[in-house]
Amino acid sequence: MKKIVVGITGASGSIYAKRLIEELLEKGIYVDIICTDNGKKVMKYETSIDIDVWVDKLKAKYENIRLEDINNLFSGVASGSNKFDAVIILPCSMGTLAEISGGIAKNLLCRAADVALKENRRLILVPRETPLNAIHLENMLKLSRLGVTILPAMPGFYHNPLTMEDLVNFVVGKILDNLSIENDLFKKWEG
Ligand SMILES: Cc1cc2nc3c(=O)[nH]c(=O)nc-3n(C[C@H](O)[C@H](O)[C@H](O)COP(=O)(O)O)c2cc1C
Repeated sequence: MKKIVVGITGASGSIYAKRLIEELLEKGIYVDIICTDNGKKVMKYETSIDIDVWVDKLKAKYENIRLEDINNLFSGVASGSNKFDAVIILPCSMGTLAEISGGIAKNLLCRAADVALKENRRLILVPRETPLNAIHLENMLKLSRLGVTILPAMPGFYHNPLTMEDLVNFVVGKILDNLSIENDLFKKWEG
């Protein structure tokens, strides 16, 4: 993996995205971040993080990071000729999930997901909503049948988590496992 697009939406749980981005940066993977307008607001509300300020701070340490403008459909990742390896959207709102399943690509995040689908690249959605209605479930089933990985933000408890960080690391570790990226974010089940 050389370049991964990380999408953040206005679903609850942007703390997962923060942790994933930190891990990818440390592994030297180029991280292209696309955050929806509601994603920015909910992230600020839940974590007190202003994503523009946070990314600027990360840029002082890493060169392999970029924060996109969600409305810039002229960005590289809007095109299939841009060689990104995967798109991961976490947390993924039911709204963004519905747009992707409907083929609507009116913002850069949905367009990048649409490109991943048409180019047969990895697309991982980490939905967060409960309970789920039939529209949510049908949209997820439709995308799953197209090869999209639906990896809900559902931490397990069999690794005996003690902190919130343990729970977050479990979900992020599952995403990295799914992309065959080595990690020791949670204790693997040995039976
Ligand atoms: C504090 C807060 C938490 C939210 N949590 C969720 C959630 O967990 N899942 C979800 O699908 N929508 C959630 N929403 C609603 C979405 O933000 C809303 O549907 C929005 O239009 C999603 O837009 P986006 O996909 O462009 O970010 C939440 C909204 C707020 C204000």
